Amino acid sequence: MHIDRCYCFQRTFAELKSVAARTGAGSVEELQRHVRFGHRCRLCLPYVRRMLRTGQTVFHEIIREQSTS
Ligand code: FES
Repeated sequence: MHIDRCYCFQRTFAELKSVAARTGAGSVEELQRHVRFGHRCRLCLPYVRRMLRTGQTVFHEIIREQSTS
């Protein structure tokens, strides 16, 4: 398994990470003000939250919403 992007909007987590670094966005909501992602199935949001916390941009496990709170 290789999860590295918001598939609905074709935005890689690496791309989102660089936007966060450039803008100082520290949450999904702040990041969404600068780049469009996560508005459809929303399955990417737990991954983006973890990326913002840890810097990780490629995942090999299923992360559910409640496991990242
Ligand atoms: S994968 Fe991000 S909204 Fe569907």
